[in-house]
Amino acid sequence: ARKAAEEWIRIGGEAIDRSGRFAVALSGGNTPRSLYAELAGAEFRERIFWGRVHFFWGDERAVAADHPDSNYRMAHEALLAKIPVPRENVHRIETERGPKGAAAAYEIVLRDFFALGGGSWPRFDLILLGIGDDGHTASLFPGSATLGEDKRLVSATFVEKLKSDRITLTLPVLNQAANVIVLVSGGAKAKAVREALTADSRLPAARVRPLDGTLLWILDRDAAALL
Ligand code: 6PG
Repeated sequence: ARKAAEEWIRIGGEAIDRSGRFAVALSGGNTPRSLYAELAGAEFRERIFWGRVHFFWGDERAVAADHPDSNYRMAHEALLAKIPVPRENVHRIETERGPKGAAAAYEIVLRDFFALGGGSWPRFDLILLGIGDDGHTASLFPGSATLGEDKRLVSATFVEKLKSDRITLTLPVLNQAANVIVLVSGGAKAKAVREALTADSRLPAARVRPLDGTLLWILDRDAAALL
């Protein structure tokens, strides 16, 4: 988490120096909680100008913002409520619109924020990702039709194995990022990590290959045990 926080602050500072803002897409689940705690902590919180940081999400569960499963809620509790970031800089996926409505609204937010024309893609300064033990990342799951989406920026997808709806950035958006960090912790992920880092793996996490950007996997010892 400390290493990820160092990288986060470095990338963010460079983005703010270069363009006056830092557009970052947060990941959900449990792993990034420790990173968010580091960023909110004494060592890092003063090392970036929060007023220039714009928070987005890589994916969201189709639940209310105050639901225990909400990625927004986790980030808000662990980080956003503890730093002086302006409300208008927090671009929550509005799940109260329902999965398809939330995806459509979030797509408009992205097109507006990045001032996109028709066919172009948003380029996040940083996209933070995790990996599931099945090799999914964001809410791009193995076998999902969403993996083939090559027009929309955001997709609403029903995840069979979880019996739940998700809203997710699409693969082209992930691969347009200037920087991607995949943060992984724990032995349960070791097999997925090894497979995803094997040449020509077709796992969703393996298909995150920024076209013109950096890709950094930060693993703890247990997650890296099979490498
Ligand atoms: C989500 C995440 C997802 C996550 C993996 C790992 O919404 O769940 O975006 O892609 O990164 O499922 O989750 P854990 O960190 O909880 O193991």
